[in-house]
Amino acid sequence: MCGIVGYIGDKNAQNFLISGLKRLEYRGYDSAGIVTLDDSGKATLLRAKGKIANLEEKLAKAKREDHIGIGHTRWATHGEPSETNAHPHQAGPIYVVHNGIIENYKELKAELTDFEFKSETDSEVLAALINSFYQDGKYPLANAVVQALKLVKGTYGIAVVSELAPEEMVVARSGSPLVIGVGHDETLVASDASALLGHTKRAIYLNDGEVAVIGKNSVEIKTLNAEPVSAKVEEIETNLAAIQKGGYDHFLLKEIMEQPESLKETLRGRVNAEEGTVHLGGPGLSEAELRKIRHLVIVGCGTAYHAGLLASYYIERFTPEVTVEVVIASEYRYRSAYIPEDSVALIVSQSGETADTLACLREIKKQGVRTVGIVNAIGSTIAREVDGGTYVHVGPEISVASTKAFTSQVIAMVMFGLTIAQAKGVKSAVLGPYVKEIAALPEAIRMVLDVVPKEVQKIAKKYAKYEHAIYLGRDTAYPTAMEGALKLKEVSYVDANAYAFGELKHGPLALVDDRFFEMVLLPAGVLYDKAVSNIQEVLARGGHVVVVTNADGFDLPVESVIRLGGEIEIFAPLLMNLVSQLFAYYVTVAKGLNVDQPRNLAKSVTVE
Ligand code: AGP
Repeated sequence: MCGIVGYIGDKNAQNFLISGLKRLEYRGYDSAGIVTLDDSGKATLLRAKGKIANLEEKLAKAKREDHIGIGHTRWATHGEPSETNAHPHQAGPIYVVHNGIIENYKELKAELTDFEFKSETDSEVLAALINSFYQDGKYPLANAVVQALKLVKGTYGIAVVSELAPEEMVVARSGSPLVIGVGHDETLVASDASALLGHTKRAIYLNDGEVAVIGKNSVEIKTLNAEPVSAKVEEIETNLAAIQKGGYDHFLLKEIMEQPESLKETLRGRVNAEEGTVHLGGPGLSEAELRKIRHLVIVGCGTAYHAGLLASYYIERFTPEVTVEVVIASEYRYRSAYIPEDSVALIVSQSGETADTLACLREIKKQGVRTVGIVNAIGSTIAREVDGGTYVHVGPEISVASTKAFTSQVIAMVMFGLTIAQAKGVKSAVLGPYVKEIAALPEAIRMVLDVVPKEVQKIAKKYAKYEHAIYLGRDTAYPTAMEGALKLKEVSYVDANAYAFGELKHGPLALVDDRFFEMVLLPAGVLYDKAVSNIQEVLARGGHVVVVTNADGFDLPVESVIRLGGEIEIFAPLLMNLVSQLFAYYVTVAKGLNVDQPRNLAKSVTVE
């Protein structure tokens, strides 16, 4: 997600802004920019696509001794990575940097008819809106910011400066963190404290709904309703690595634990729980085109492939006349597969740069098939080459093992399937339960993550000694078992493989002995009894069975059971997958291995 820095004080603002942005690079970004003001308010705005080094090249020719400024690293959410879309955004005499998503930016933009927009971003709309209340300095900057924020729906962490008031900065947050560093004759601002280290150990953490007016020796905080807030100065955690991981020991755990929030970003503005409908603008398919679809080809590698497999089980349930084919990109690109008329290809990729997936996309496009991207990295190659797409908006996924992206990829594809079913007139009685559970899923994930980590950690320590594992599941639990096995394999190097539970007796059952443990994902409902009898087959051969289930009545004498409560039925495998993710994490920690950068692997496989 984006990074924000701000400086006001006696030192050189440009120096702090650049060093602060470098501290925030770990958050992932695709462009950067800074603006500083001299004492008369004259602005020096520098922005560049790509890495901060590109910004520094511009800075070398535009050195200033300014003492106030703001800066930003952009992880694109609306609009491609480019200099024009990079922050700070200017509107008249004001400059804004923004982290978050303005959900109603289109409606707001439509009202700002006298503003000449240059970018595709929601953030520029916010700048224009603030200036529409500021009226070039007719009103105090803080008042203009407050008036604008009262109209905004969505999330923001912002910093604002004005050429007409170079002695103050206004910052505000709702949903995107901001921390104020209290120094001596200087005040600093950043998205997280890592940018403040080395400058001050004293920090004020802004809360949602608060706005602060900052001077070099002053911080005045109020709520959006002008109620004064007393600033609480806290000691900053000094461990840089710890701060960048949000206090977690590893990015992998951080990204597992942030899934309630990341899934909310995926759903934002796309789900109408009351109506029981979903709406995806990105794929760019009309109702008539959606109605015509009779075949889906879902393409991906690794976790993205597993996400497609899991999504396919759901899509075929509620779109009876649509066939769904899920393929491994590195295989499919060399096959001479015929793609029938009225097909759409879903191209799934977190990074948007996976070579095999990209090659598949290009082969499929040669057949004239409509392509829809299910991608996280905005403006990535795949995102640019598909005909349309749905970004999953989970923010940067730093750990090599993909976790939050998987959950959001599955749901994004299910939502795409729902738009097809809606267009085909499938009854809301059929679709409603899916939409209802999707809307409830972030909170259900939160509830699981509040309870299971400790229990999973205990079990993981017990099974960390095994070199071999079998993951098992039926129906939607089968692709989920495949994903769980991949997670364990790729971070802990345990030889973990998944089988459809009904396949066990067709061969893999021969493996069951003391070298192996068996991880069974056991959703209540679909094929539950069949799976229970499969477990008995494993127990009868001395299997070391771990069961993850949401079925209250499960009582077989297995070695370990992790029980999930709650109301989620349809998407219970996604909750079970949280256990698999945590299990892989804690086994790896128990083995003392490199959690975030496992041997031999890369985060994005851009070679064949
Ligand atoms: C998953 O944990 C792995 N890192 C890997 O399988 C990954 O899912 C695969 O390389 C696809 O990457 P993509 O989603 O960026 O295309």
